[in-house]
Amino acid sequence: MPDVAPARALVIRRARPGDAEPIAAIWNREVVDTDHTTDTEPRDVKAQRAWLAAHGDDHPVVVAVEGDDVVAYGALSVYRPKPAFRRTVEDSVYVGAEHRGRGFGGTVLARLLELARERGHRAVIARITATNAASLALHARHGFERIGVERETAFKHGRWLDIVVLETLLGE
Ligand SMILES: CC(C)(COP(=O)(O)OP(=O)(O)OC[C@H]1O[C@@H](n2cnc3c(N)ncnc32)[C@H](O)[C@@H]1OP(=O)(O)O)[C@@H](O)C(=O)NCCC(=O)NCCS
Repeated sequence: MPDVAPARALVIRRARPGDAEPIAAIWNREVVDTDHTTDTEPRDVKAQRAWLAAHGDDHPVVVAVEGDDVVAYGALSVYRPKPAFRRTVEDSVYVGAEHRGRGFGGTVLARLLELARERGHRAVIARITATNAASLALHARHGFERIGVERETAFKHGRWLDIVVLETLLGE
């Protein structure tokens, strides 16, 4: 008998309505406990399903599944609703707290960048709380460059937060 259970393959696939519950579980933890997202209101499953439905084909959501478990997810979201900005998207990547440091965030972000390319998006923006070293490192490793900082634009958990803005350009 081996001492360690064999690693289960990680599958990245488009999210389905049935993924709303595990996605909400991963995200709500960050909403409540951390500054990794500036959102402050947790989502119930119904709200998470509506969030998924609002992401059309130009703005896909993917999940990383290990065995039967959704261990991470990522999304491309509308950057600005004005038509001139329709080829710019904002990415987000969330890995379940107990699954970090195994490369899952990188795998999800790489897939999001592929999907963005396939859809003809030009710019991908990441807006990251300045204290979120893991996300800053992850995006830098995937070619994002720092283009600015929003100083103290968010207030959460009793303190002002700077938001670092990073960008990568795709295509010609
Ligand atoms: C950020 C996040 C998605 C990274 O996912 P992950 O699966 O743990 O990341 P990976 O294993 O793919 O590696 C991330 C990189 O960050 C580095 N890293 C991890 N934790 C770090 C830390 N605290 N400080 C600095 N670098 C760190 C890793 O070393 C790795 O870089 P490397 O491959 O060059 O060594 C994950 O930590 C997470 O979900 N955090 C909470 C939600 C969040 O912050 N999402 C992003 C919102 S903008």
